[in-house]
Amino acid sequence: MRKQIIVGNWKMNKTPTQAKEFMEEFNILFEKNKDKIDDKVKFGIGAPAVDLATLKETCEKDFIIAAENMHFEKNGAFTGELSVEMIKSVGANAVILGHSERRAMFNETDSDVNKKTKVALENNITPIVCVGETLEEYESGNSKEIVRKSVLASLDGITEWDKIVIAYEPVWAIGTGKTATSEYAEEMCGFIRSITSENVLIQYGGSVKPENVEELLGQPNVDGALVGGASVQPESFIKLLTLNK
Ligand code: PGA
Repeated sequence: MRKQIIVGNWKMNKTPTQAKEFMEEFNILFEKNKDKIDDKVKFGIGAPAVDLATLKETCEKDFIIAAENMHFEKNGAFTGELSVEMIKSVGANAVILGHSERRAMFNETDSDVNKKTKVALENNITPIVCVGETLEEYESGNSKEIVRKSVLASLDGITEWDKIVIAYEPVWAIGTGKTATSEYAEEMCGFIRSITSENVLIQYGGSVKPENVEELLGQPNVDGALVGGASVQPESFIKLLTLNK
């Protein structure tokens, strides 16, 4: 039986002070709602690098603390970048890789994502590898082919399927309020599973909110969610954890 994994993605939001405020409130809500959270649900937050140490100091054990990016080199002349050792040193146990915003705005390629994924695995950091088609690709009817290429290139050479997470995020659903239907999410997550492994955890991402999380996570091939907007407030984040199957 696969676990479920729900991870917030704060993107470029929250200072350490705001991260601390979030966690203080979240911890209170977590205590109150503990009984409603299934044991098989793992959860945590992807946060700006400056917030990671604060999350580490304030979170309960087993909380997923994800950086939002890292470089694949160990160190060197890469101004503005962070290495795996750096994110690990401040408490990260996971890293979001190849988010569509990084692919679209910072020219991140499948090949970069592949190198980063391998470095994360070598360092016992869980890579959350994002893939997904754009609106244009979706409308052209080529979603599966696009996603297939991206998955195979981003995860080339990967065999430790139980140590990685794939986040299927159709770009047209991210931050738009236009969630994919649960049937479509299931079809695409099932397709990704068919070209990877039975054991890999596959999240859906794109306008997941308390109102639709139950239906999406009720699909057999959807093992969790990567959540932007609905993860920045503790009340809505806790609802995502208590509302699923
Ligand atoms: P959203 O973002 O939930 O705000 O659509 C998802 C993501 O970017 O991972």
